[in-house]
Amino acid sequence: MAIRNIREIGEEVLTKKCRPVTEMTPRIRELIEDMLDTMYEANGVGLAAPQVGVLKRVVVVDVTGEEPHILVNPRIVESSGEQVGQEGCLSVPGKSGQVTRPNYVKVAALDVNMKPFELEGTELLARAVCHELDHLDGHLYVEKVEGPLKDVEYDEEEE
Ligand code: NI
Repeated sequence: MAIRNIREIGEEVLTKKCRPVTEMTPRIRELIEDMLDTMYEANGVGLAAPQVGVLKRVVVVDVTGEEPHILVNPRIVESSGEQVGQEGCLSVPGKSGQVTRPNYVKVAALDVNMKPFELEGTELLARAVCHELDHLDGHLYVEKVEGPLKDVEYDEEEE
C-alpha cells in the first residue's frame, strides 16, 4: 500500500487512451490498492489509473467514504436523465466548474477477480463514474465545463 503521485493537467499521460486489463496480476492488484489509498488521502471521490500515470482501464470510486467501487474495464451500458452541478478533479487542483451529466448510469465492469458485475448509480455516484470513465479515454472535465472554471475554497472537497 502506498500513496502515489497524482498527475496534473498539462501532463501528456492524462490525454491518452488507456488499454484494457487482460489479466489480473499482482502488479495491478497493487495499483488498485494504491489508487484507493491515494484517493482517500486526497479526499477524492474517484480516481482513474492515468491520474497516477498508468494507462490501464482501472477506476476506483467512493462517494460515501465507506463504499469503494473498483471498476476494471468499465463501460457505461445505460444512462438516463440529466444533472447539472459543480465538478472538480484531483488532477486539476483548486478548480471547479459546472458540468452536465446523466443522472443515472449503469456500468458493466470486472472486479479484482476479473469477474463481471454491474453497478448502478444516480446523482453523485453517476457523476463520479462518468467523470472517471472519461479519464480512461484521455478526457478531463474541463473540456466539458459550461461557463468559467472557478477557484475553490481550501476546505472544499474535490472529486
Ligand atoms: Ni478527475
